[in-house]
Amino acid sequence: MPIPQGNHDYHSDAEDEIGGVLRDAGVTVLEGDATVLDCGGTTLGVAGGKGFGGGFEGRCASDFGEPEMKAFIRHTKDFAARLNASLTDLDTDVTIALTHYAPCPDTLEGEPLEIYPFLGSYLMGEAIDSAGADLAIHGHAHKGTEKGLTSGGIRVRNVALPVIQHAYAMYCLEAPEAADRGPVRERVSAW
Ligand SMILES: [Fe+2]
Repeated sequence: MPIPQGNHDYHSDAEDEIGGVLRDAGVTVLEGDATVLDCGGTTLGVAGGKGFGGGFEGRCASDFGEPEMKAFIRHTKDFAARLNASLTDLDTDVTIALTHYAPCPDTLEGEPLEIYPFLGSYLMGEAIDSAGADLAIHGHAHKGTEKGLTSGGIRVRNVALPVIQHAYAMYCLEAPEAADRGPVRERVSAW
């Protein structure tokens, strides 16, 4: 089972310890990399990691000014680049982008607008749109909305526990035959 770590793991400087406990329990902890699962003959590629904030188109922080601001955005940029590369490298029947922070603002609806920049970043959405994916999943936005889309039309699901109100959610993804497999966005728009 692959998961990303969240910001709470980092709050007490215990991210390495928590990651180790998860790995010892057989969990694949994603940090900008990817893993491939065999689901009864269908390959499922999951690329992801924690991600970070910065905001969304027209209302975002930029790589400018104080070192602290540059470090903030560069953390997101670095992750977005790794996410894009990991998604691009996957050659699987179905591909999922899995992050803690949100890659689009749709699934933040219900949260105060003022904190959107601390809940996610369009840079991750661009990385996902550029590489292609069948689904993007995130958490972190406890007062948000379950369903949304990236700017490029890839479906996004906010699975934060207070949002879905269950321990898990089930999403059905088709796995087309390789010969029938068109561009990801084509299949998404038809879904
Ligand atoms: Fe969080």
